[in-house]
Amino acid sequence: MKYKAVRGTRDIFGDLIEKFKFVEKIAKKIFDMNGFLEIRTPIFENKEVFIRTLGNEADIVSKEMYDFFDKGNRSLALRPEGTASIVRAVIENNLIQNGIDKKFYYIGPMFRYDRPQAGRYRQFYQIGVEIFGNKNSFLDAEVISLAVKIIEQINIHDFVLEINSLGCDECRENYIKVLQNYIKNQNSEFCENCKNKIKIQKNILRIFDCKIENCKKILQNAPKITDNLCENCKNYINEVIENLTKINIINSNNFKINKNLVRGLDYYTGIVFEITTNALGAQNAICAGGRYDNLVSEFSKNSVPAIGFAIGEDRVVEILLQNEKKESSLATKRTNASSFNKIFFITTNKEKHREQIFENYSIIQKLRDNDYIVLYNSEPKSIKSQIRTADYLKVGFVVFIEDDETFNLKNMATGEQKKIEKEKIFDFFKI
Ligand code: HAM
Repeated sequence: MKYKAVRGTRDIFGDLIEKFKFVEKIAKKIFDMNGFLEIRTPIFENKEVFIRTLGNEADIVSKEMYDFFDKGNRSLALRPEGTASIVRAVIENNLIQNGIDKKFYYIGPMFRYDRPQAGRYRQFYQIGVEIFGNKNSFLDAEVISLAVKIIEQINIHDFVLEINSLGCDECRENYIKVLQNYIKNQNSEFCENCKNKIKIQKNILRIFDCKIENCKKILQNAPKITDNLCENCKNYINEVIENLTKINIINSNNFKINKNLVRGLDYYTGIVFEITTNALGAQNAICAGGRYDNLVSEFSKNSVPAIGFAIGEDRVVEILLQNEKKESSLATKRTNASSFNKIFFITTNKEKHREQIFENYSIIQKLRDNDYIVLYNSEPKSIKSQIRTADYLKVGFVVFIEDDETFNLKNMATGEQKKIEKEKIFDFFKI
């Protein structure tokens, strides 16, 4: 085949799409029960929206943005993340108000031109939330707990919740001076990338994101923002942790304060967090987020505090697939269980294939209306060939259409077969 999916993108189907649907279903249920409203923004925006929110120097803007000019010569970009677009949307549509918790969620594709590797795609999917209106340590704990709940309910338990605080404007300013003082004699030893970050005061914290061994070594003993917080910010992060303990989200095994956690986007203020695992090699973050209290005021005359997170859907799905492979016997059981509601109708007279389907169409439709997946061949085929198809589709039951009055019903897992009056099929499937 001459054409292949573009590097870093992929087609999602089969088991993979089933896992995506599973994760989204659980997340949506949790969002609904917690009063979140869905929001869908365009997948492209004026490029300026991302530059202004994420920062000109952030990697995802300076190196990874899919930007282009449209036929009207507008400078646009595919969204590299959700927060910037949501902030643009809630201000444009007047959806937020200071003092009232307005909770939004989104699920959709994001685009970053980074080097593809395991767990890193150029088109990937995020499940995210953004909450506008209030700033308090209780809300922060609730938002973090929501992320943890989703991860746990999709059946991932081997993770660590990492928290840090980037402080307020005041303590960050003081800290930057302390850090500059520490690194001033070692400036020449940093990689070029770090040197550039050091030049711009706003970016200096990002040197803690550097993966180069030598830079990491220099920074090992560097003063950390966490140890240089003002009294208010120190109390705030302690309260968040205390609240998380009270609502049973934290136990000593799954939690740490990560003083090196600085997050690569400009908009963060105060609490930041990540949920990490060892399952995916270098791409260890499956969820990330934090507070961004100054962002709304950059775009409007109102100042509205906000906090949010995004789960990397591709990464959590990858972990689910890995886990399923590990417990393959369990997986088989699950497959059987999930096929229980899949029924295949088999016509027994090839010449009258269509008539047999039509005669039973209202029954088929009623089963579908009651959450059963009902399948049959569109073309007439021998009984043997239809059974083969039913097998291939892993259905739970086949229904042989025998005569006007009866069905012959076979349970594919047990092999058990029995004749029933047509109307009794609804009793059998508990409808
Ligand atoms: P982020 O850390 O850039 O934060 O991305 C969040 C999550 O998206 C990551 O932890 C990771 O699981 C997933 N992710 C990121 N890049 C890729 C990729 N190339 N391939 C696969 N998965 C990826 C944000 O995007 C912020 N908007 C989160 C946020 C919301 N903060 C406040 N509100």
